[in-house]
Amino acid sequence: MKLWIHAAAGAIALITVSAFWLSTATVEVLGDAAAITMVKACVLAGMAVLIPAMIVAGASGLSLGRGWKSPAVAAKKRRMRIIAANGLLVLMPSAFLLNSFADAGRFDTLFTIVQAIELIAGAVNITLLSLNMRDGLSLRRKPLRPAAQAG
Ligand code: HEM
Repeated sequence: MKLWIHAAAGAIALITVSAFWLSTATVEVLGDAAAITMVKACVLAGMAVLIPAMIVAGASGLSLGRGWKSPAVAAKKRRMRIIAANGLLVLMPSAFLLNSFADAGRFDTLFTIVQAIELIAGAVNITLLSLNMRDGLSLRRKPLRPAAQAG
């Protein structure tokens, strides 16, 4: 059950960050100011899904990982620390800042710089979450192979 919750929370976190990234990039290229403002508000609201999913994925991962000596588990822990720091120190402040800039109709150089930083930090977290998912799937207990047949 814990493993299922862990994998589901991790998948929700990855899907949410990817959706934020894709909608942000798409609307920056194709959208007008109103569309950009709407995406900024949605990203902020979506934090209510992303933050709990990250906490559950990380906490259940730490609990599942207790006692493992595997380098893959150590790598997952290391990545999760970067993911959390990136989220708390870069992505969340950027989401708040960009939402207030967009609300004020302020699409100036500072908006562009913060937007670029947010997209880079988002891409880093998508990569690290994907690597954690890949390593999680490879840690999955393999079904026992049928014993070789005699004769
Ligand atoms: C602190 C961070 C994390 C640690 C220490 C960790 C640790 C682990 C461990 C030890 C397992 C294998 C458990 C077992 O087979 O009994 C596992 C499975 C898994 N993890 Fe993580 N994990 C972390 C974060 C993540 C994240 C962020 C994701 C996804 C984005 C993820 C996705 C998965 C998946 C898909 C599985 C396989 C589930 C299954 O077998 O059905 N993990 N993790």
